[in-house]
Amino acid sequence: MSGQVDALYIYLLLVAGVMTTLIFLAVTVLAIKYRRKPGVQAHQIEGSTILEIGWSVIPFGVMLTFFIWGAVLYFRERTPPADATEVYVVAKQWMWKIEHMEGQREINELHMPVGQNVKLIMTSQDVIHSFFVPAFRIKQDVLPGRYTTMWFKATKPGHYHLFCAEYCGTNHSGMGGDIVVMDPQEYAQWAAAGASASTLQDTGKQLFSSLGCASCHRSDVQGRGPNLAGIFHKPVLLEDGRTVNADDDYLRESILNPTAKIVSGFKPVMPTFQGLVDEEQLNALVAYVKSLSAPTPPGTAALENAPAAPQSTNTKVQ
Ligand code: CUA
Repeated sequence: MSGQVDALYIYLLLVAGVMTTLIFLAVTVLAIKYRRKPGVQAHQIEGSTILEIGWSVIPFGVMLTFFIWGAVLYFRERTPPADATEVYVVAKQWMWKIEHMEGQREINELHMPVGQNVKLIMTSQDVIHSFFVPAFRIKQDVLPGRYTTMWFKATKPGHYHLFCAEYCGTNHSGMGGDIVVMDPQEYAQWAAAGASASTLQDTGKQLFSSLGCASCHRSDVQGRGPNLAGIFHKPVLLEDGRTVNADDDYLRESILNPTAKIVSGFKPVMPTFQGLVDEEQLNALVAYVKSLSAPTPPGTAALENAPAAPQSTNTKVQ
């Protein structure tokens, strides 16, 4: 995006430069031409409607080009391509924690192969931070309590500075790092060396079982909670008649504040997991639930590997 952002910026500077020159030239020339001269009486000049409409409408048109160009770029920057690799970012005072879907974790560094579309799903563990990579011309606030997203595609290998761009306390200025863009082979080596025992979604799957989620969110229709297979990015009908999109933020909210949006046909029996799971565990859980919506070959239920739900009908909740 950086070339496109620069082009808009240069266009803004050019228009501002031309307008400034025109105005100052006009001021100077008119001040000299119509200066007070001895023996010449000043006389009133009547307005010109055409002139006044002209100098209102033409600049308005020029300003609209900023708006239209800016809006087009903004939507391009805000819309990650469908094939983007997702990476979770957790900000905390004063570091950036990066979690790859394959399980690699990094601090203050984000390794990526060149030419790869990357979508960052970001949240904060404490205060507001801001993820800023000047070379990519991207910046996005990172907020506690919800996800914000951003995407980029690095086109040249190299190290690119990462900054925190929102004052977040004593060591704000030190809260930086590097986006490391590598050749695909180099990246493959790096990824293999850093591969951990379990991917993010596997970590989520273990949590899903150890926290007891699987006992209610069963793969059949018998569970006390909705079946989560295939819900990601699908509309969900709520008990109060509203329909919401099951996006990252919805999944997150449903874990931390389950009664905020009750799915139609279910009772508000799920306890909150606020304080029981940290941001990284939340990301893992969300990644797991999302993975249940990945296309699976027909006949294989996505949840079939989930631990068997207890058959008892006791109503104990976690
Ligand atoms: Cu984090 Cu400033």
